Amino acid sequence: MPTLLVVNASPRGDQSLSRGLSAMFVDRWRANNPDGRVIERDLMESNLPFVTMPWLGAYFTPADHQSAAMRDMLRLSDALVDEILAADHIVIATPVYNYNIPAVLKAYIDHVVRKGRTLGFSGEGLVHGKACTVVMASGGVYTEGSPIRDRDIATTYLRLILAVIGIEDVTVVAGGNAKSVDMGQMSREAFLDSFSAEIAAAAA
Ligand SMILES: Cc1cc2nc3c(=O)[nH]c(=O)nc-3n(C[C@H](O)[C@H](O)[C@H](O)COP(=O)(O)O)c2cc1C
Repeated sequence: MPTLLVVNASPRGDQSLSRGLSAMFVDRWRANNPDGRVIERDLMESNLPFVTMPWLGAYFTPADHQSAAMRDMLRLSDALVDEILAADHIVIATPVYNYNIPAVLKAYIDHVVRKGRTLGFSGEGLVHGKACTVVMASGGVYTEGSPIRDRDIATTYLRLILAVIGIEDVTVVAGGNAKSVDMGQMSREAFLDSFSAEIAAAAA
């Protein structure tokens, strides 16, 4: 059964443009994969802790030496990795904050780049045969030809970290100019519609 994992990072609920784009993707993907399974991972509901000393202690203790407390500490991280490994296609929907991804998505990455599970002990990626679509909402425009193209750190970083764990088949739908919606110059629907062809192609 084809499986889609959808990771949402915006705190803005129904107002969120990145969530609107990922919902469009899910609709398209379901139409193309009627027997498919969708796993929803909402980072606003996941209470992701930052990396702490006890967490690192658990991480770097071999599985057969871990205490029950250490196993508890890694349980959420293990579940997040399991979701990635179960998926054929992963959608990451995120705002751009201060030219990069929001802290909650970075925390997620710190939980899923796991030596021995998604990253080999020699640094090789272990996650193969998966596609990823990144749908991003940003106030500004950072695509080719933009005078602020060099500030597109979020896309560069996500492509890099996905490649590190072995995911090279990455499509980015860059939802730029979100500020026109926030300033009331464009409707949310018109904004989302303007990316429908890109989303449909990514979900095909
Ligand atoms: C704290 C904060 C920082 C932001 N920083 C940037 C930025 O550096 N560049 C940019 O283009 N837009 C920036 N924005 C605008 C958001 O990317 C935009 O509102 C986007 O629609 C948010 O995604 P969402 O609609 O899915 O919540 C920022 C917004 C907030 C709230």
